[in-house]
Amino acid sequence: MSLLVEKRGAVGWLVFNQPAKKNAINDAMWRDIPAAMAQFDRDDEVRCVAFRGAGTEAFAAGADISEFEKKRSERGAVAEYDDLLDRVLHSIQGSPKPTLAMIYGYCLGGGVEIALACDLRYCGASAQFGIPAAKLGLAYNIEGHKRLLETVGHARAREIMFLGRRYNADEAFAMGLVQRVLPDAELEPYVDDVINTLCENAPLSIANTKTILEEFVKSSGTADAARMRAAIERCAKSADYIEGRRAFMEKRKPRFTGK
Ligand code: COA
Repeated sequence: MSLLVEKRGAVGWLVFNQPAKKNAINDAMWRDIPAAMAQFDRDDEVRCVAFRGAGTEAFAAGADISEFEKKRSERGAVAEYDDLLDRVLHSIQGSPKPTLAMIYGYCLGGGVEIALACDLRYCGASAQFGIPAAKLGLAYNIEGHKRLLETVGHARAREIMFLGRRYNADEAFAMGLVQRVLPDAELEPYVDDVINTLCENAPLSIANTKTILEEFVKSSGTADAARMRAAIERCAKSADYIEGRRAFMEKRKPRFTGK
């Protein structure tokens, strides 16, 4: 099982458990998240939901690239994958319970999406963040862009996406990607404290704030969804996308042509 779902006291934990691949998130793990969130949402004993990666090397090094050839290349499969991701992100963002990401090591691509879907993000000094879609020829999805924009603003969102580089924990803090950075050894006790507070505080006050904030950041209705989907499809069907994922698997630098 590569997504561990466990209730510990009043906390629902979701743990990405694929350490041989730096906790990359495979299809089965993505699919398990909405059901786990629904289970925790329904459970009155659960007062807070927390995400982490197994061990301390990685939160999650993004989606599992070894599956892209099969699951994220055909036109229908790309749309299905994007729908799945939407369901995952909405299941986290729409939860009435406070959600939190505890981050050691690599937090890349889909790992950042999960973290940004959470209400709170705390990381160790070892954390490294990045969204390397442009290094893979990959079309990052709509909801992920929206959340990134809301979190770090236009200028930083463009730099993060265009350069696809990695940022250390202090840089991530300065950009507003995380609420706090701690020495690795202090991260878990700090997060335990935060969780205790979240579990003691009034659930309906927290749920109220979540509802209001989510309503305020809803799309104004002027965003052209068809134009966004066309941009995603153009990228998803490109030769560069094939080149990007093959180059990663073959451990070589990709040669992109814009086709
Ligand atoms: N999908 C599939 N496999 C992945 C992976 C991913 N997202 N990230 C890491 N792995 C695998 C590597 O292929 C490698 O497999 P191998 O042992 O069979 O060769 C293993 O995990 C260890 O990774 P490695 O690259 O050797 O470790 P590293 O410490 O040198 O670098 C990363 C770690 C995370 C920086 C690097 O693996 C990386 O860039 N991963 C891809 C990140 C990415 O692009 N994510 C976005 C996807 S949307």
